[in-house]
Amino acid sequence: EDVDKGDFEYLMLKEIYEQPDVFERILKERLDDTFIHFPELKFGKEYLARVGRILIQACGTSLNAGMIGRMYLEQFAHISAETDYSSEWRYRNPLASGDSLVVGISQSGETADTLAGLREAKAKFMRVLSFLNNINSTMARESDAMISLMAGPEIGVASTKAFTAQVLNLLFFSLYVGSIKWLMPAEERRTVLDEIRALPDKMRTILKSHERIKEIAEFLKDKNDTIFLGRTYNYPSALEGALKLKEISYIHASGYAGGEFKHGPLALVSQNVPVVIIAPQGEIRTKMISNLKEAQSRGGKIISIITEGDEEIKRESDFYVEIPPCQESISPLLVAVPLQLLAYYTAIARGCDVDRPRNLAKSVTVE
Ligand code: G6P
Repeated sequence: EDVDKGDFEYLMLKEIYEQPDVFERILKERLDDTFIHFPELKFGKEYLARVGRILIQACGTSLNAGMIGRMYLEQFAHISAETDYSSEWRYRNPLASGDSLVVGISQSGETADTLAGLREAKAKFMRVLSFLNNINSTMARESDAMISLMAGPEIGVASTKAFTAQVLNLLFFSLYVGSIKWLMPAEERRTVLDEIRALPDKMRTILKSHERIKEIAEFLKDKNDTIFLGRTYNYPSALEGALKLKEISYIHASGYAGGEFKHGPLALVSQNVPVVIIAPQGEIRTKMISNLKEAQSRGGKIISIITEGDEEIKRESDFYVEIPPCQESISPLLVAVPLQLLAYYTAIARGCDVDRPRNLAKSVTVE
């Protein structure tokens, strides 16, 4: 392939490093001093004000982004939202009322199951909004309205910058709908917008921790199984971190909601099954420390993702990566970066071709 990798060994790494620039581009397009803009969105404010329920359907990484988006819709837009795999959703009987909106999320805009879900929704007379990176795709043509992810072409099979762009656009969309549907307190809104503006520089700071992450990869590379734990906003981060690792390094990895750890996964923990604990500052941090201790007392080695300066968790961890301080709701956008790098460097340490993982395709156009 002739795609320019720049100074990077693999396209995936290049795409990981592009994220701060992608975020700056999205910020420039979407946000001015106080207002959020979606010029391409064909739905008017009157319609959006009437939406009472959002059904998100997507596959793979795009669904993980959708799960974070669901929390944003509930938190910032006050809309009830649910998520499902497209391949499941289309065979259910989703009882949608007139105020339901179906949201599809897709990097390629061509994934067979997501497209089938979209068609199923339309056949049931539901409106469809798609979040798409490829805006010249089949889904773009068949949706009632579309939001452009603006991540730029993503070529590496394992999705990275499209994922964070999906989460960021879902966050902006939730705030946008929130400003139509209810009066979000001005102070709260300002704080979130300031947090968003700070993201590109915070991502750049995280990218500088690659040496530390390489050391963790050296430790992980000989393992066969790993567990990723997170809660609330970072439960989907755990799913995505595990998905990235298995996709490109072929190490078995499962993500769980921290609260479910004791209900089964804890049985797997041993010296050879490390546990990645996602525990940035915020409401659920102390719960994540409980998970850490549960794993540790069974001999599990701990890799933690923490907020800078969290000495307590550092002391308890075998390895840690720090992210700059931010609000808990915003943290998945930062947590994604070390998890991508961890998967990347582990795959490299195992000699894998990260841009062409075995058995996987960038776009799955068959069901
Ligand atoms: C494939 C890719 C994944 C992607 C998923 C959904 O499995 O390998 O990286 O998340 O399809 O793709 P989409 O284009 O719909 O986001």
